[in-house]
Amino acid sequence: MVCESANMSDLKFQNLKINGTKKFKGEIKVSGAKNSSLVLLAASLLASEEVNLANVPQLTDIEKMKHILTTLGAELSNDGDKLIIKSNKLHICELPYGLVNGLRASFFCIGALLTKLGEATLALPGGCKIGKRPIEEHIKGLKALGANIEIKDGLVTARINNPKKKLKGARITLNCPSVGATETLVMAACLAEGTTTIENAAREPEVQDLCCMLNKMGAKIFGAGQSKIIIEGVKILNGCSHKVIPDRIEAGTFLIAAAATKSNITVSPVVPHHLDAVIEKLKECGSKLEIKGNAISISTKSIKAVSVETSPFPGFPTDLQAPFTALMSIAQGKSTISETIFENRMSHIESLNQMGASIKVKNNIALIEGVKNLNGQFLTAHDLRSAAAIVIAALSAEGISHIKGLEHLDRGYEDFECKLNNIGADVIREFKQVNQLDLNSSESNKKDYQAA
Ligand code: EPZ
Repeated sequence: MVCESANMSDLKFQNLKINGTKKFKGEIKVSGAKNSSLVLLAASLLASEEVNLANVPQLTDIEKMKHILTTLGAELSNDGDKLIIKSNKLHICELPYGLVNGLRASFFCIGALLTKLGEATLALPGGCKIGKRPIEEHIKGLKALGANIEIKDGLVTARINNPKKKLKGARITLNCPSVGATETLVMAACLAEGTTTIENAAREPEVQDLCCMLNKMGAKIFGAGQSKIIIEGVKILNGCSHKVIPDRIEAGTFLIAAAATKSNITVSPVVPHHLDAVIEKLKECGSKLEIKGNAISISTKSIKAVSVETSPFPGFPTDLQAPFTALMSIAQGKSTISETIFENRMSHIESLNQMGASIKVKNNIALIEGVKNLNGQFLTAHDLRSAAAIVIAALSAEGISHIKGLEHLDRGYEDFECKLNNIGADVIREFKQVNQLDLNSSESNKKDYQAA
């Protein structure tokens, strides 16, 4: 079945109608990584020739970043499933609040714009639902590279004041292994004069993918994936062709959904070692996982409760904390899920409890007592990964669920319901406001369920 990408407009009035407890079977194709694509698009601003990006997923966040690049003067075009970006005629270096606020990742552009144009003004990215999302590590690092930074009226203006308009290599130590700060500073340091060292750098695969593409463009970056990255500044960065790595968070989401519905599926392509921590935890729960090349297969007969603490890569990813919590809500026994990266990433708990889960939250730790099954409900998601968690819970629940908040889900999952239906799920994207009364009566749930 060819998946039609959902109509991007009025996502707020769409909902997913999910008929639970279906078992899946088959293979899911994993899309290119959202969090790699976003930073690779920002990095393409550094190139003096065209950059050819393959495997960029169709997501609302990606559309926003493409709009930002064209606003800056980049020319974007498609060649089949490849995205071509030409950034040799950037004409402005300002990104207004409306653009930056809609997409935090747009702030990554500051490093590329500053080092290429000598100046950049971006609106200060606000916090979001999952946390304050400060940027002091980005600012501290850019200052160490010689940038003059002014933050006024919600705008960050970065300038290079020396006559050569060149940043200077520096030794930078991050207070926390921030993915965004590492990416901003790697991009800024590529065209700086001299060598930059970033200590306590983020090790995520998306950082590694960025460094891989920059090196193809002629950068000299060493140690990507380690906590110390060294960048020797070069004079110019050329164009290149690059394929975005598979999305490890999407792959992990589908593996967790398979475990929750006790389905046998394969996800591919993946880079297996990008998911080591998740594979480990799923095995601890009792799932059987088999890795063959760039494919991972999973089968699950029962789910044992297992505790998890999120941590920077290679630890258990914060982006899979919510989906894994949904799995633990129907596991046998008690577990704790501790979110150590973001301060407010538990918005799915209320919906899971509405479905019959038994979860308490104390100091960013979810205390879960597994229940036999969840029940379909009328639910609303409040952020991207919580939306995925609620879908997983609905797929395993008895009865029909209706989930709103697809403006969050479609930010990070390409053709989500189509991919699930391709392996036997029963998920319909409805384009209407679902009347709460239609769903509150358990009778209508049971009737729908028996009819399904
Ligand atoms: C990236 O966000 C990802 N987004 C996030 O994915 C992901 O959850 C996060 O990394 C952690 O892996 C993109 O790549 C577009 P951070 P980022 O800077 O770069 C603190 C998703 O669901 N911090 O590594 O913003 C910060 O408050 C999204 O796909 C500072 O204190 O994350 C947070 O607690 C959500 N000061 C922690 O570091 C700073 O200057 C991790 O943030 C910067 C960050």
